[in-house]
Amino acid sequence: MPGKLSPSMMCVNYLQLETSIRALERAGADYLHFDIMDGHFVPNFTLGPDFIRCIRELTSIPFDYHFMVERPENLLSVFDIRPGDMVSVHQEASVHLQRTLQRIRELGARPSVAINPGTPILSVEEVLDDIDAVLVMTVNPGFAGQKLIPSTLRKISALRRHLADRGYDRIEIEVDGNVSWEHASAMRRAGADIFVAGTSSIFRKDEDIEALANRLREVIA
Ligand code: DX5
Ligand code: ZN
Repeated sequence: MPGKLSPSMMCVNYLQLETSIRALERAGADYLHFDIMDGHFVPNFTLGPDFIRCIRELTSIPFDYHFMVERPENLLSVFDIRPGDMVSVHQEASVHLQRTLQRIRELGARPSVAINPGTPILSVEEVLDDIDAVLVMTVNPGFAGQKLIPSTLRKISALRRHLADRGYDRIEIEVDGNVSWEHASAMRRAGADIFVAGTSSIFRKDEDIEALANRLREVIA
């Protein structure tokens, strides 16, 4: 199965939104990644429900919601979550993680649990039956343009091995943060399946998004 591309829409040039989305469609993006931030779980704000609804009217690419918020269960109904979307909530932010993941599944979406660089992979052990993916943060969440934390590469391969040992090969690994050409290749070798593409690869000032996305797709094939 080739790697999947999930462009990080917090990095798009908002002044060229529709043009950028058409380029991502032509490049075959598998998801559009939406970072939702509440200024508490991470010290930043990004995309709100109204902005994301506008994008839903522009394209049929499934959405990949990344809730970097405290108590994500309170926000699920505020966003337009549809069957086929991926919805990641942070293990560190969810007191009732299993129930939140169940609610995402009831919405017809694909539940995923996100873990920060300092959070052990065993922290998701008790919800393996409830998820379709684990989102491994390869930077500390909250901002684009950060540098990969090297130990997270080892973490990706350890997670892939652990999932295989426990009989959960079906669970995909998504990686998010400084997914550059070089890092994407190492992440793919380590066992990553879905790649959040931001300023390290496809969103570069005055560069051709479609060409850059196609180049990244080759790296993760
Ligand atoms: C980090 C964000 C990502 C990503 C942006 O919190 O979730 O969207 O880092 O891409 P880069 O790291 O390439 O700028
Ligand atoms: Zn993200």
